Amino acid sequence: MKIVVIQGPNLNMLGVREQHIYGPMKLEEIHQQMKSFAEQNGLEVEFFQSNLEGEIVDKIQECMGDADGIIINPAAYSHTSIAIRDALSAVEVPAIEVHLSNIHAREDFRKKSLTAEVTAGVIAGMGPFGYHLAMIGIIQIMGEINAMKEAEEQQNA
Ligand code: DQA
Repeated sequence: MKIVVIQGPNLNMLGVREQHIYGPMKLEEIHQQMKSFAEQNGLEVEFFQSNLEGEIVDKIQECMGDADGIIINPAAYSHTSIAIRDALSAVEVPAIEVHLSNIHAREDFRKKSLTAEVTAGVIAGMGPFGYHLAMIGIIQIMGEINAMKEAEEQQNA
C-alpha cells in the first residue's frame, strides 16, 4: 500500500520558521521518521512539498489510482483553498489532514479549514508527532477499505 505525504507552503522552512509555534524539527527529519515507520509497516511512502497551490492540486490528482492514502498539511491553504478542497474530494483517496499547531487555539482566520471538511480526519496541535498519528490513522482506514472491497468481491463471486 502506498501513502503520499503532501506538505503545503512554508513547511519547507520548518526548523527555522517561528520555532515557538512549529518547533525545531526540520521537514526532512519529520519525513525520515515517517519513512522508518512506513518501512517497519511494509508501506511505500512518497513525500511532496510545494509553496504553489496549483502544484498541490496536480499532486492530489496524481494520487488517483496511484496512492491508497494521503496525509496532507495544506498549511495556509487550509483556510483559503477551494481548489485543494475540490481536488481532495475529486480523487476519492482517503486523506488525513495534519497541523503541527493547534489551529483552534490561534487566530480566528486559522480556526476554519476548508480542506479538513473533505478529509477522513484531522490531527492538530501535536507537533511532528501528529504525522506519526496520521500514519497510524491512515493505515487503519486503508485496512478497513480493503476489507470492505474484499467482502464485496466475495459477495459478487
Ligand atoms: C499549519 C497551520 C496553518 O495555519 C499555517 O498557515 C501553517 C502551518 C500547522 O501545521 O500548524 O503554515 O498548517
